[in-house]
Amino acid sequence: MSTRPSQDCQPNDPSAEAGDRENGGGTEACFGRRTFFAITSGCLLCSAAGTNRAHAGTDRPIDVGTVKDYPKDEISEKFIRYDIFIIRNTGKLYASTAICPHKGNYLLLDPQNPGRIICSGHDSNFDPEGIPTGGPARRALARYAISVNDKGRVIVDTSREFPQAQWGDKASYVAV
Ligand code: FES
Repeated sequence: MSTRPSQDCQPNDPSAEAGDRENGGGTEACFGRRTFFAITSGCLLCSAAGTNRAHAGTDRPIDVGTVKDYPKDEISEKFIRYDIFIIRNTGKLYASTAICPHKGNYLLLDPQNPGRIICSGHDSNFDPEGIPTGGPARRALARYAISVNDKGRVIVDTSREFPQAQWGDKASYVAV
């Protein structure tokens, strides 16, 4: 069961596309992440209150653009409002959950290290693969089904989840 507030970002709302987040993309949940960002610059561990989450932002397919929108290896937060990272890494494009497997708090890029994901709850951190590299989290970040449709759009389906043991499944990544 999701803990997402009902006023959250609207899935696939064109007015809330990538970049809108920086322009106030409009919701409590998104604001919560931005607030967390501000807080983390001062104190990572003391920011846990109110950020516990348990579920991806939507069960509807999410259009995350085209492969060309991800031209180099990086962890993208463009669609963090849906609680996903879009990650290009070593020949694969995949969508990882942005919810911590430890106790369900927000994950974000480390402002000090764009190649690392950090948790708002108890300071776990993860590499671009989603493998925990520090803190109490023991499980890797699950990935969601991702594919390219006949119009060349990359579509993420958060209703299908792939734990680490299934990362070899071709439905869990797009070869790039
Ligand atoms: S919820 Fe992420 S480290 Fe505890």
